[in-house]
Amino acid sequence: MKINDFNVFGAVLAIVCSNLIGVSANSFAGASSYFLYTLQQSDRIAVLDAMQAAGLKTLRIFVTQVAQNIKGCTNSAVNDVEVGTTGNWDDTILQMIDILISEAMPRGIKLIIAPHDRYALGCWQSDVYVAKYNIPPTDCSTAANNASIFYTNTNAIADYDKRLLHILSHKYTDGTPWSQLTDGIFAFNIQNEAMGHMDMVDNQVYGGVIVLAQSEMHIYVSTGGGAYWSDSLNYYNFYCTDIDIIDIHSYDGTSAINSNMPGAINTANQQGKLLMMEEWGVTGDDSTKASGMTSQINALNGYGVPWSLWEVVKPSSTDFETFTDETQAWSAITTGAKAANRASGAFTFNNLP
Ligand SMILES: *[C@@H]1O[C@H](CO)[C@@H](O)[C@H](O)[C@H]1NC(C)=O
Repeated sequence: MKINDFNVFGAVLAIVCSNLIGVSANSFAGASSYFLYTLQQSDRIAVLDAMQAAGLKTLRIFVTQVAQNIKGCTNSAVNDVEVGTTGNWDDTILQMIDILISEAMPRGIKLIIAPHDRYALGCWQSDVYVAKYNIPPTDCSTAANNASIFYTNTNAIADYDKRLLHILSHKYTDGTPWSQLTDGIFAFNIQNEAMGHMDMVDNQVYGGVIVLAQSEMHIYVSTGGGAYWSDSLNYYNFYCTDIDIIDIHSYDGTSAINSNMPGAINTANQQGKLLMMEEWGVTGDDSTKASGMTSQINALNGYGVPWSLWEVVKPSSTDFETFTDETQAWSAITTGAKAANRASGAFTFNNLP
């Protein structure tokens, strides 16, 4: 049974006998920390402890090559899971994520795993798909590149399906394949920001969705967002039956939330989809971050839509990275997360920690 069918069934039951089974609409909060598994253990544990104390329940990471000591962190380098060419596996990264899962689970934190990053397709990085399919790279700080080949070439799509299958069938330390590791994994993204900044209206990438949906029974299949509100909410996300959660990514602030969210909730309800504000964030000094976060969190909690901040890591910076030393911002996150966990939700999420 797909979890979405279970949601519908659960919602009907909740109306009939809500006091008996306790299934009702809910919300929650989490954060991205996309390379947390590469941090030295003491820093990893500090981040996980802080997330737990704040009430953050989901932790979003990427499966992507990571360089050493990025963003001021003390972290090790790791290869992507595909090295040299597609299908040439290096599972070191998956084993590092296994350790992270073993540390997050006892703290009541589940992972959201993005199995690939669109911006590794010749934008911030150039991975094996760029080499194999001659995807034209660019300097991502200037403009995003045209990686449409990845989404339209049938061989590239087949290679990506193999990547998804490899990741989903990777076995956690207790032998459970990730596709069934409901205690440790909340959702799989299809990709981080598939087709982001490309003005493509094409759903061929969602061959990968079918792989995800067929492989996992209890873990949510989620889109992984677009670059903006508009492409996050592309119509095909709502019509693809294998997608459970439509992820919204936006750095456009509170007014954009207020102008877009009511319509998004309506469409999601009509199409039987769940919504999550999976990426948003604030830059600046501590007080600027705190006020920007509070404003957006209050709006999101008011709509009962779960959210995941970009991003929590040690150390903090004046960019999007935040940690406990930013005492005002961290207080905003803690207050907001606890409120999210109490908020009356617009949707019913199962598989929460
Ligand atoms: C992107 O590249 C494809 C060929 O790979 C081309 O057909 C398409 O027109 C390009 N899109 C843009 C916006 O340049």
